[in-house]
Amino acid sequence: MIKVEVVNTMKAESDRKWWKESVVYQIYPRSFKDSNGDGIGDLKGITEKLDYLKELGVDVIWLSPVYQSPNDDNGYDISDYQSIMEEFGTMEDFDEMLAAAHDRGLKIVMDLVVNHTSDEHPWFVESRKSKDNPYRDYYIWREGKDGKEPNNWGSCFSGSAWMYDENTQMYFLHLFSKKQPDLNWDNEAVRNEVYDMMNWWIDKGIDGFRMDVISLISKPADFPDGKAGVNGYASFAEPANGPHVHEYLQEMRKKVLDRADTLTVGECSGVTLEEAKKYACSDGTELNMVFQFEHMDVDSEEGNKWTDKKIDLRKMKEILTKWQKGLEGVAWNSLFWENHDQPRSVSRYGNDTEKFQELSAKMLATCLHMMQGTPYIYQGQELGMTNVPFGGIEDFRDLDSINAYYELTEQGVYGKEEMLKRLRYKSRDNARTPFQWDDSENAGFTEGKPWIMVNPNYKRINAKEQMGRENSVFSYYQKLIRLRKEHDIIVYGSYDLLLPEDPDLYVYTRTLGEEKLLVICNFSENERELTLPEPFGTSSEIVKWIGNYEDSGAGRTMQIRPYEAMALFHKI
Ligand code: NOJ
Repeated sequence: MIKVEVVNTMKAESDRKWWKESVVYQIYPRSFKDSNGDGIGDLKGITEKLDYLKELGVDVIWLSPVYQSPNDDNGYDISDYQSIMEEFGTMEDFDEMLAAAHDRGLKIVMDLVVNHTSDEHPWFVESRKSKDNPYRDYYIWREGKDGKEPNNWGSCFSGSAWMYDENTQMYFLHLFSKKQPDLNWDNEAVRNEVYDMMNWWIDKGIDGFRMDVISLISKPADFPDGKAGVNGYASFAEPANGPHVHEYLQEMRKKVLDRADTLTVGECSGVTLEEAKKYACSDGTELNMVFQFEHMDVDSEEGNKWTDKKIDLRKMKEILTKWQKGLEGVAWNSLFWENHDQPRSVSRYGNDTEKFQELSAKMLATCLHMMQGTPYIYQGQELGMTNVPFGGIEDFRDLDSINAYYELTEQGVYGKEEMLKRLRYKSRDNARTPFQWDDSENAGFTEGKPWIMVNPNYKRINAKEQMGRENSVFSYYQKLIRLRKEHDIIVYGSYDLLLPEDPDLYVYTRTLGEEKLLVICNFSENERELTLPEPFGTSSEIVKWIGNYEDSGAGRTMQIRPYEAMALFHKI
């Protein structure tokens, strides 16, 4: 028998955490299920569909913002943190949904958007009134420089990050839209307001927070210029990981998070591995985990995301491996291919043609769910929902896409058709079209007129069709989630990459005690021969496997078919 190194990465029972063993499902409420025929998804719609999520097998729901908002950025611009957006329902609807979720053993994680508020929030309405208003210092106000903005920072949504306010003749900072002024976290009163509000939600019984762009809350004291990008402004992520961010999160941990057993995940634009070790340190002083975006930028070019290029798998593997190995034992990863800010993964990293859509959706799922970290499924990903054949700019709703279209075509960076092509590939709206429940009108999402077009492929790709079918993408996700509950190695095993230079195959192993898991994913249409390294395929015994071809199996030398994926559980 061949000798195999036995590594036990599972240190102690105390390393076990429910949020490591969970699968999180993200709901974008506007597009999930409309219960009242106004064309906009709502809380009652979510309650109606909790059994669907239970059947899928997920443990936690992350709700994109449901608070009162003028909807400049679909709820990420909040005007009242303690009331519900009218279009989504009432606080009673929320309480009902929370109770119904808890009854089913599902936890609810709220989106916490506190880098900025809406400009219609009463704090900002006061703040802009005068220089000596008590709320003035709740936001970031600066004098102009030589008659221009205080620095060259760009907003994430095009143009400058500074807006001139006639009334007091000063600029306020908005890293996102001009209707999303940044809060001044250096002001203790602001921090305490935020903590009070979070405690109010915790007292309601919610189970955690996904923290919107939390890496941006602490700004560098001197507001330095940054490196200008394609539109002439420095990236909005330039001020990431500012001087006090860890101090503030540790304070939040003490004043809020330690009061309950929460799941906390920080959205960390611009985070480095070293920084992530602090945010998500396993000593539990800040957050449980972060979303890093390096692997989402593999198909960007010098900070410009509006590209139409396919990923280089070698680069993707290098980045994901860096994060897998880098956080092992010291912090915790979150795993995602999709969210409401990204196009559909099957169109971006897989293949959305009828021939390969299901296979490649399952392949991507295998690749992600077998890594170390907490997996996040974005609504519709479990069906392999695809990008959308949008027509002209009038089909888009997302302000980021619309602003970029006008900015980059007016500057002559791209022609109109070219820019539309890029939007169809990369726009956030690809992920925001209505959830495809069945093949009835509007995909069963609404009886009214949906706020954004429905993907015409809903007759073929929908939940009803997939739920009863053994080999559907939905059923495959169910199996992956179930496996996670049965095999500690998926959660706690250590990760190692094989074949780093292979351009088509992503092959890695997980190891826990005497168990090994081998994961093979073909990211291409190419049929590939693979010779497995020892001990796989010879001395070891396969105790279980999952694969996206019905007759997947292992020998020492294998033919890996287009978009084939398999995970082979070995006892050595
Ligand atoms: C990140 C969110 O995910 C995105 O949807 C939003 O537009 C910005 N933060 C601003 O809140």
